[in-house]
Amino acid sequence: MNSITQQFPVLTNYTYLNTASSGLLPTSVKNWRAQHDQEFSSHASIFRESHKDHIEQIRQTVAQFCGANKYDVALIQNWSLGFNALLGGFETRRKVLLLKGDYPSINWPVENRDFECFYVEIDDTLEENILTALDNHKPDVFAFSLTQYISGITLDLEFLKTIKTLYPNMLLIADGTQYIGTRPFDFNKSPLDIVGVSAYKWLMGGYGAGFMIIKDSAKAQLFPRIIGFNSTSYLFSNREEAPFNQLLEPGHHDTLNFGTLMRSIKLLQNEGLPSIAHKIKQLRSHAVEQLLALEMINPQVENREVKSSIMSIEGSEGLFSYLSDNKIICSERGKGLRISFHYYNSIQDIDTLVEAIKKFKGY
Ligand SMILES: Cc1ncc(COP(=O)(O)O)c(C=O)c1O
Repeated sequence: MNSITQQFPVLTNYTYLNTASSGLLPTSVKNWRAQHDQEFSSHASIFRESHKDHIEQIRQTVAQFCGANKYDVALIQNWSLGFNALLGGFETRRKVLLLKGDYPSINWPVENRDFECFYVEIDDTLEENILTALDNHKPDVFAFSLTQYISGITLDLEFLKTIKTLYPNMLLIADGTQYIGTRPFDFNKSPLDIVGVSAYKWLMGGYGAGFMIIKDSAKAQLFPRIIGFNSTSYLFSNREEAPFNQLLEPGHHDTLNFGTLMRSIKLLQNEGLPSIAHKIKQLRSHAVEQLLALEMINPQVENREVKSSIMSIEGSEGLFSYLSDNKIICSERGKGLRISFHYYNSIQDIDTLVEAIKKFKGY
């Protein structure tokens, strides 16, 4: 075993091209989790005595990782819960721009409320479509995934800066689940008002952990009703004094899940986000070259300036089962198969995929 397979034993069992579905749990983090539960089992409330400091350490780590202020970070169980909680904070009917076919937990919570929704088609002219819709509808909010969960199409933060300059009062709410952890990201320098994630994919944070980061620009427009014990900093202090981020954290925190997130983030920090982005870029270029030759991907995906770690390949009948039988793990999404690469993947993984496709096609 080399150091990568020691940290990620899944890679010895499979060709794992499925981080867009579930990231890997590093061995060192798994060991910490076992120790955490051992201590909880042995010491119960005595073990919990230091949990508030632990949670603040986690909040600080998330803030530092994302270039945000600690008091803007809310620790949440997943994107869906965090986004629903935030939307509940709009006191009046809002006009919301959405991307057609975006992840359901972005569009459904908006559609399920009394908001006026407008949609933009995700196609080769996505940015033009957005500009036209903004001009036509002047929405109060634009909510979207930074990276699309099926196609991997990614919005450029420079483009988002341009639209924020044109429409400074419009809130930009981004789902960064398929984006954060794949490249450097600086929330305070970004045009986004809110970003949120579920952390079990690119952040290797396991299930039940995520975060929302909210700028003052958004706090001024939102009055969340969600609140509970632990929303205030001190035992039984006035609920009117609850800080905005902690409104989204009612009840007792789970140090296992959020502690997992912090330890995985620290591993990513040690690896370095520029280096992770570089690795993903190399893997992607290699995959594109090979898959274009096999006519398995749409050549237009390469026309976009900002590329992601996710791509969709043509899913001819039986291919998914064939790959699964050969322990090549990807996802059936939309009309095709979704493959995705993280820094723990290798060129060999792509070559294994390509060889399997060739065999399947009888080349
Ligand atoms: C864009 C995007 N956002 C969020 C999520 C996960 O959100 P949740 O854990 O709330 O279902 C996914 C999962 O596939 C996703 O692709």
